[in-house]
Amino acid sequence: MMNHSAKHDQEKRWAIVTGASSGIGLAFARKLSLRGHSVLAVARRRERLEALPKETGRDRGHAEPLVADLLTEQGLACVIQRIASLNNIALLINNAGIATRGNFLSAPLEGAIKASRLNIDAVVRLTHEVLRVMIPKGHGAVINVASVVAFQPSPHFAVYKAFVLSFTKAVAEEVKNTGVRVMALCPGAARTEMEMFSHNEGLLGKLRSLTVTRPPSMRPTNGVKS
Ligand SMILES: NC(=O)c1ccc[n+]([C@@H]2O[C@H](COP(=O)([O-])OP(=O)(O)OC[C@H]3O[C@@H](n4cnc5c(N)ncnc54)[C@H](OP(=O)(O)O)[C@@H]3O)[C@@H](O)[C@H]2O)c1
Repeated sequence: MMNHSAKHDQEKRWAIVTGASSGIGLAFARKLSLRGHSVLAVARRRERLEALPKETGRDRGHAEPLVADLLTEQGLACVIQRIASLNNIALLINNAGIATRGNFLSAPLEGAIKASRLNIDAVVRLTHEVLRVMIPKGHGAVINVASVVAFQPSPHFAVYKAFVLSFTKAVAEEVKNTGVRVMALCPGAARTEMEMFSHNEGLLGKLRSLTVTRPPSMRPTNGVKS
């Protein structure tokens, strides 16, 4: 006889959200769960993730915490293994990210390596993994969280999100007509736990000007939301 969790896996549409313990990822996880998705909530802070099922369980949602450090091979393998066991994946949101600021040469190299591992490598690995599952089934979507800073290189603001945006647009083109959608989300400044934005009024003020509504002729098309 089928056990409860196997039955649940068969019936539910899964949404995998990385960085679901705070900020934009937590907002996505809450909303998706309210809409009836089963959310696989990935991040490092266990207590935050474990609060989510208690919260969403009061409504009609379902959330499963998955504690994983996406900077490590072990953490990525853990998420990839769980993805392989899920029956019906509707959505992957590659949201976990860290921001870097400062002079590339004088800042510790470790920060730049970590940022490229989390903001680029993990996004590429997880996108590859879910597309291999979604494409044969002909449905599903991937949202890669980039940033408004992805549109223009600027000194002291490393350009990992520009990779995310270009990568996403390229893959979106490759998978068109498969039934699977790949999109980039490019938020402006949002007050979250991200150090750089949460304590810097000046930066928030400056970044807001980047989100000014553009005329329709200048709006991005394939796979980009800003
Ligand atoms: N806030 C903004 O203004 C803004 C603007 C443009 C783009 N973004 C992008 O939006 C995304 C979400 O950022 P946010 O503003 O919501 O920041 P946040 O509140 O700091 O959230 C970042 C999330 O990433 C997770 N994370 C960090 N390192 C991780 C790791 N090694 N392994 C697994 N998870 C990790 C964190 O969870 P744990 O610490 O529990 O692991 C947290 O859940 C990021 O990609 C960011 O670059 C933000």
